[in-house]
Amino acid sequence: MKRITIAVTGILLSALIILTQSCTEYKKGMVVCAYPDASQVGIDILKRGGNAVDAAVAVQFALAVTLPEAGNIGGGGFMVYRAANGDAATLDFREKAPAAASTNMYLDSVGNVKPDESLYTHKASGVPGSVDGMIEAHKKYGKLKWADVVQPAIELARKGFKVTRLLAKDLNNQQETFKKLNPGKKYFIKDKWGEGDILVQEDLAKTLELIRDKGRAGFYEGRVAEQIVAEMHSGNGLITLADLKGYHSVWRAPIVGKYKDYKIITMPPPSSGGIALLQLLGSVEKYPLSRWGYNADSTVRLIVEAERRVYADRSKYLGDPDHYKVPVDSLLNSDYVNKRMQNFSWTKATPSSTIQPGSFAGYESDQTTHYSIVDKDGNAVSITTTLNGSFGSKIFVKGAGFLLNNEMDDFSSKPGVPNMYGLIGGKANAIQPGKRMLSSMTPTIVEKQGKLYLVVGTPGGSTIITSVFQTILNVVEFNMPVQEAVSSPRFHHQWLPDVVYNEPDAFIPTVQSQLKQKGYELKNDNSIGRVDAVLINPNGSYEGGADPRGDDTAAGW
Ligand code: GLY
Repeated sequence: MKRITIAVTGILLSALIILTQSCTEYKKGMVVCAYPDASQVGIDILKRGGNAVDAAVAVQFALAVTLPEAGNIGGGGFMVYRAANGDAATLDFREKAPAAASTNMYLDSVGNVKPDESLYTHKASGVPGSVDGMIEAHKKYGKLKWADVVQPAIELARKGFKVTRLLAKDLNNQQETFKKLNPGKKYFIKDKWGEGDILVQEDLAKTLELIRDKGRAGFYEGRVAEQIVAEMHSGNGLITLADLKGYHSVWRAPIVGKYKDYKIITMPPPSSGGIALLQLLGSVEKYPLSRWGYNADSTVRLIVEAERRVYADRSKYLGDPDHYKVPVDSLLNSDYVNKRMQNFSWTKATPSSTIQPGSFAGYESDQTTHYSIVDKDGNAVSITTTLNGSFGSKIFVKGAGFLLNNEMDDFSSKPGVPNMYGLIGGKANAIQPGKRMLSSMTPTIVEKQGKLYLVVGTPGGSTIITSVFQTILNVVEFNMPVQEAVSSPRFHHQWLPDVVYNEPDAFIPTVQSQLKQKGYELKNDNSIGRVDAVLINPNGSYEGGADPRGDDTAAGW
């Protein structure tokens, strides 16, 4: 599908903006995100002299207005940043468990997990991190004034914006749930949403104004904080004023690794994504993938077997590094990664029941959104942000007009019991007060021969890691243009359940039957991930890859 909108300012040729999902090259900047109006906000900020971080902050707040299922101020996320001079940093603005949270908080009196308690209740929310994250990122790297990067979102909320067909469908699907979980609140309630309807959010506009005018204190203290706590009191939620005031995002050293000629800069724990991505790339590096080709029988089997082993490790070893000693070096050790692949057989699928998390000496989370931005100087931002489930807990903060996350479900409520993404975990990711829940979000930046090459990431819960992995392979091994790399059908395996989820047309019929013959169970999944990427061409121009699975849009300048 190809959607092209051309907006001509009529003044300067350089002011030509093309919003497109096709491959088009730009020199001065590119923003690829999940809603057209938000991409437009980002490119406008770049045109006004803002850098990639200014644009990212503006896009985060714009998505909180235009993409309520995932864009947020009530959730959290991760940023991977690479400055034009090659310096890299990551910012962890993941939510935290409230101080009153406890390991067994979702278990009943006989120790069973209470259904939906970590998903659709006031207790499902972690302390939101997105606002603090944006403030920190802007403080360290932003060029424009704070008020100027928040303002576009206020205007979108107050004046309203046009609802797309997909958003209308999502809002219609949630009507009964919104009413049930939000008695007395009217947010998003309408007989029937249609494409082109205007969505106005006055309460959200007022909340954003407080954030614009007071920064941290506009959200973590004062009126909005009190509204969050009042909302918690109305439904036995746990977040307190002290939790909010005490929330701080954390700058962390990136996870950096090599794949052939490429340097991979990605997110450390509490994301499992960066480590898993490097383990996956390390597991397949010595095989002739480019000769075999995209989704050939051997390619798929190799990738599935690597994914199976890496997700087994994830279940045991990954958690919040501030609360659990994650064995990063051991997991990324190339001898260990190669050893894990030794019992892989070309003739028969390895049953997941025979794969356990690996062992080494000295050691005993579908709705998220991603945006990739590059500015004229070559500074790059890769941000993945989330409420966890679609529309998070589906509970609005009364009076403040925004949705709360249900990120607590990304903890392991009980060892071995799967969360909403079917992921299991144990001690490393057990609930503790003040701890960050493990994530799969994998915002990533790739360098080629020392130069910025690819900015990439995706939503998709547990499928995030495998979607980023396959998109990188599509570019570096299968030589696809970035739009094709993003659009091409994907598949996913996560150890348990022992199933290869695949999008329609991911495998040609002969590959399907070869896989089945060898013992792989295939299961259709209509849509895996929504990857948004920017590729930097050898001539320095930027090329966007916006996922046609959603409303994702590449805006270039
Ligand atoms: N909530 C999805 C993730 O962080 O992995």
